[in-house]
This record gives sequence, structure tokens and C-alpha cells, in this order.
Amino acid sequence: MALYSDKVMDHFRNPRNVGIIEDADGVGEVGNTMCGDIMKIYLKVSDDGIIEDVKFETFGCGSAIASSSMATELIKGKPVSEAMELTNKAVAEALDGLPAHKMHCSVLAEEAIQAALEDYQNKKLAGKLQA
Ligand code: FES
Repeated sequence: MALYSDKVMDHFRNPRNVGIIEDADGVGEVGNTMCGDIMKIYLKVSDDGIIEDVKFETFGCGSAIASSSMATELIKGKPVSEAMELTNKAVAEALDGLPAHKMHCSVLAEEAIQAALEDYQNKKLAGKLQA
């Protein structure tokens, strides 16, 4: 059996949602100190809490790129509440699995998305306090 599934290879070669969102409503950046990989997620959220757009930048391994690509696809168009429940396990499953020593790459994707959602919520709260 190949080490990487076709889906991992596909998302690694043709990553979806690569880039940045200039006026993002939430930005999250996380890194893994062991491998040195970094992932950054940008969110655009509508007034009624739907993730309209999501982009990522990943400085990291192939599995990290595939994981961020898949993770952004999984939350795009979804309500914030649903995105908050995204787990690295769901990302890995959607990729038809990752090798055991590469599971931490999907954890990075989960953490980056959670960080961006947290930033979005903090900004929203700050906006409300100012209003
Ligand atoms: Fe660190 Fe993949 S090796 S994120």
C-alpha cells in the first residue's frame, strides 16, 4: 500500500484555498516546534456567522499542506459553530488517512482553524463592546 492516499497526493499537488484574505475577520497562526512547520488561516465570516471564505498559507510538509487544504474545504460555507467542532481526526479521515507519524500535521490544521475562529470571536466581542 502506498504511504499516502490519492486524496493526500491530490490536495498536496493541487491545494485548495491557498492565499491570504486582506480584510479577514479572523486570522490564526500556529506552529509545531518539533518539525518547525507553520500554518496560517484566514476567515471571512458573514454577519449571520457563515464562513464565506477561507484561505491558508502553510510553510510545512506535504501532509501539512494537504491537511490545511482539506480542512479549509471542510469548513467553507459552514456556520462558525460547526467549524468549531472540526477535529484533526475528521481532516485525516477526509483525506482517507495519514501515516501515524504524520497525524500531527492534521493537528496543526485543527489548531490553526480554532485559532482563527477564536480571533474572529474576540474581534466580534470587541466590536460589540465598542458599539
Ligand atoms: Fe510537521 Fe507535517 S511534519 S506539520
